[in-house]
Amino acid sequence: MRKKFIAGNWKMNLDNAAAVTLARELTRSLGDFVAADVAVCPSFVYLSAVAVSLKGGSITLGAQDVFYEANGAFTGEVSVAMLKDVGCTYTIIGHSERRHIIGEGNALINRKTRAALAGGVLPILCIGELLEERERGKTEAVLEEQLREGLVNISAQDMCKITIAYEPVWAIGTGKTASPQQAQDAHAFCRKIIADIFDKTTAQSVRIQYGGSVKADNAAELLGQPDVDGALVGGASLKVNDFIAIVKAGAKT
Ligand code: 13P
Repeated sequence: MRKKFIAGNWKMNLDNAAAVTLARELTRSLGDFVAADVAVCPSFVYLSAVAVSLKGGSITLGAQDVFYEANGAFTGEVSVAMLKDVGCTYTIIGHSERRHIIGEGNALINRKTRAALAGGVLPILCIGELLEERERGKTEAVLEEQLREGLVNISAQDMCKITIAYEPVWAIGTGKTASPQQAQDAHAFCRKIIADIFDKTTAQSVRIQYGGSVKADNAAELLGQPDVDGALVGGASLKVNDFIAIVKAGAKT
């Protein structure tokens, strides 16, 4: 049984005071809750402040991106060691907003993933198809390519440390959630590809989160699907009660 993993991606939202308050309220509400793994991923600039607010609770800290070089002349970038230094357990890599707004490709995403693994920060590797790709029947081809190219030169042992986040781009921030069946089908397909790249045991242990308009009122049904092992939550993770409800839905399924 894979323990559910609910992560809040705060994206480019909140200010220092609001991030600290949100983290503090979540920590107070959840206490030492362990029925699901929970992480929050604030902007880089608020990681340290949020880390302080999370102290004493069970919520872990994640970043929204990372660079693959260890240090040096890479203006504006943040290394894996820097993320560790401020207390990050996880980092999101290859989010659709970075793929489609910033222009990141699978090769870069793979380098970042390998660097995170080498430096001891657990990757949340995001994949997902555009609406036009789904409409043209290309969903599986896109997911397969993103997985195969994103997971190049990664060992089975390291694969077990990666969380895959399936986020159909058309469902992100749109209020259009994938149906539980669409999510289940995509997750089962991803698991099949992971089994093909690595092996069945590895594929069975990897957690695959769903992301895209997950809300308090649809979380239970999505998280109830056999291959949906958690959620990567955007908008609803900015509201204490909504995020807590999603976490609790994860604990029940
Ligand atoms: P929303 O939950 O706002 O649709 O965002 C999903 C997402 O992109 C999480 O990474």
